[in-house]
Amino acid sequence: MVKPVIAANKPIQVALEPGKEYYFCACGRSPSQPFCNGSHEGTGIEPRAFSVETGQEAFLCQCKHTGNSPFCDGTHERFGDDQVGREGTGT
Ligand code: FES
Repeated sequence: MVKPVIAANKPIQVALEPGKEYYFCACGRSPSQPFCNGSHEGTGIEPRAFSVETGQEAFLCQCKHTGNSPFCDGTHERFGDDQVGREGTGT
């Protein structure tokens, strides 16, 4: 089974606008991190649609193994630099 690629082992800070629909890349293959660009096609992994009620700066997950998608929860700390760009454990 295809697993998410660790796009980076740290989150990325983004400015989120209220009411706007975002598509968070869950497969880790998008070059437009942290957002989907369609690269998941054929992986069986779908992007995660989300929106926020208030404008905010947020740290979104790039390791793709957070337990609080799309937000970073610190899980990335278990991935070293040598694992970036490779499939992770998937859990
Ligand atoms: S980047 Fe922090 S949990 Fe994924």
